[in-house]
Amino acid sequence: MDFEPFQYMRFAKRLEYADGIFMAGSGMNRPGRDLIAWKESDLRLDSLCSNYGDPRNIAWLAEKYGTGGEHVVLCAGSSEANFLVYMAALNAGDKVIVESPGYPQFRSLASLVNAEVVDLPRRPENGFLPDINEFKALLDENVRLVVLTNLHNPSMAHMPIELMRQIVDAAGANGTLVLVDEVYIDHLRPGEGDYTTFDLGDNVVVTSSLTKVYGLSGLRFGWAIGPARLLAGMLDLIDIVDPELPTIAQNMAHRALENLSRLRPVARRLHEQNWPIVKEWADSRPDIDYFEPPGGITLWLRVKGIDETGNLATVARNDYGVLVVPGEYFQSPGWLRVGYKIEPNSVRDGLTRLGKAIDDFKTH
Ligand SMILES: Cc1ncc(COP(=O)(O)O)c(C=O)c1O
Repeated sequence: MDFEPFQYMRFAKRLEYADGIFMAGSGMNRPGRDLIAWKESDLRLDSLCSNYGDPRNIAWLAEKYGTGGEHVVLCAGSSEANFLVYMAALNAGDKVIVESPGYPQFRSLASLVNAEVVDLPRRPENGFLPDINEFKALLDENVRLVVLTNLHNPSMAHMPIELMRQIVDAAGANGTLVLVDEVYIDHLRPGEGDYTTFDLGDNVVVTSSLTKVYGLSGLRFGWAIGPARLLAGMLDLIDIVDPELPTIAQNMAHRALENLSRLRPVARRLHEQNWPIVKEWADSRPDIDYFEPPGGITLWLRVKGIDETGNLATVARNDYGVLVVPGEYFQSPGWLRVGYKIEPNSVRDGLTRLGKAIDDFKTH
């Protein structure tokens, strides 16, 4: 079968175990045991869990999104949720509008179903927000799906609700489904822009998980919230690939959901602690343009005068011991994504090393 491999994921998996100061990650570190309060009984394989996931978790999510259980599907992370949405929504030859720069999974998924990717630019000069007229001009009868992230990976830009509403309405008038991956939205403080696009139309499906903000990637606990008809198709697919969801992970996720309000501020505190250090460094370098994120643990920056950053990232890693993500993985040569979830002294050290790597790269 021909498809576009998800090269960034291969890179990320390898880098996680490489030597050097790790500034390549976009997900939080695992939370301490005390924050989640696991119980021995969570480790039982025969505990309460229906084949489509723990009913307590479905009920918790239904309540959070103010909807019914028929609008909730549990799956292995937002990655699988995104996969299932594409598979249920698209046929070969359909068009899918995908934001750019953007998370490359959305391109690989299109290639799996032989759908055509149409780029929706999110430009730095526009604060990485899409232009609504440009978006409308891309719509035609073959566009079956629009894919966005909010917060935006890689910039972490927040989409204002009014702009999102215009996108959803225009897509709806065209008979087009909108997928919004909201896996980063809880980096915002509660009530400060953390709306869900699910509320904006019945042509919307949103995906998320306990990975990025909560550091629980290992649980592989994700979900999709969307129109019941689409989700019914996703459940048909789940029958083919997932006879059951991992019981222990469902139990632990239940515990995490119960304690989510204690877990959520951890990522926010980390951003507020480390961002001033990152900003000071970025402001001190006239050769860097960057986007100031409203939250999150990553910085998206452009190195002026460098058109490709793949080699720069290699120099940074091999010669200066700091690991960052080259923009090439996000269709953006010349850019870097730099994570700052590590402790403050390591952030300073890592950025100093990155600065030296940039200087070295520019002079040789
Ligand atoms: C936009 C986006 N969605 C999904 C994922 C993967 O998340 P999960 O662990 O929930 O599958 C990532 C990881 O980088 C991401 O950036």
